[in-house]
Amino acid sequence: MRLMVLRDAEAAAVVVADRLADLVRAQPRAVLGLATGATMEPVHAALTRRVQAGALSLAGVTTFNLDEYVGLSPDHPGAYHQTMWRALIPGTDLRPEAMHLPRGDAPDPMAEARAYETRIRAAGGIDLQLLGLGRNGHVGFNEPGTRPDSRCRVTLLAETTRAANARHFPGGAVPRRAITLGIGTILEARACLLLATGPAKAAAVAAMIEGPVGPACPASYLRRHPRLTVVLDREAAAGLSAAAGAAPPRGPQ
Ligand code: GLP
Repeated sequence: MRLMVLRDAEAAAVVVADRLADLVRAQPRAVLGLATGATMEPVHAALTRRVQAGALSLAGVTTFNLDEYVGLSPDHPGAYHQTMWRALIPGTDLRPEAMHLPRGDAPDPMAEARAYETRIRAAGGIDLQLLGLGRNGHVGFNEPGTRPDSRCRVTLLAETTRAANARHFPGGAVPRRAITLGIGTILEARACLLLATGPAKAAAVAAMIEGPVGPACPASYLRRHPRLTVVLDREAAAGLSAAAGAAPPRGPQ
């Protein structure tokens, strides 16, 4: 595992965007695993700035997102389809048809989950999987209790996760289920990059990096990946012991 601690959330997002941009320059037809959440917003903004400056093209890239809420159509304001569309389609040259998320409104969500995993395999698998971190240690929507060999499937959301995401559902109707890539699916990506920022993530970061590998903190399974990079800001790294061996903080690049 490579661990990087940056001065703040913006600097951490820039490092993540740099890594994605380097991959796409080397491999213009790369398959990217993308993630949603407030943590990813500055990453999407940094990628957009690079495309608009002519320093990056996403025209050849294919993307697969980690998860989507069950029951929401792609045009629902709370759907991750909407989040991703707003974040990357108007401002970059990513082709809309190359952006994939599971369909939350599929009549048979479990069949949709299986088909989504098949679509990822047909695209050649994920070159780089970007991940955020839930306050309870989830990745994607793999909540505590998840098995390491889990595949893309329908999951029940933890009540704490529903509360954390309630701001996206002003009417109060926060979905109870989601389709998510499984831990087994995520570990098949050729590389993984987890980004966590802010004080609310410090406990989950410490559990992920220094706690036991197991279902209590699903993100801890990522430590089994041979090519895992963890990018943090100082606040998210605050619960780590000095022995964690983080590189000294670096400024924005
Ligand atoms: C959400 C998403 C995750 C995301 C995480 C953190 O529930 N399903 O993929 O990484 O929780 O979100 P945020 O960045 O808003 O804290």
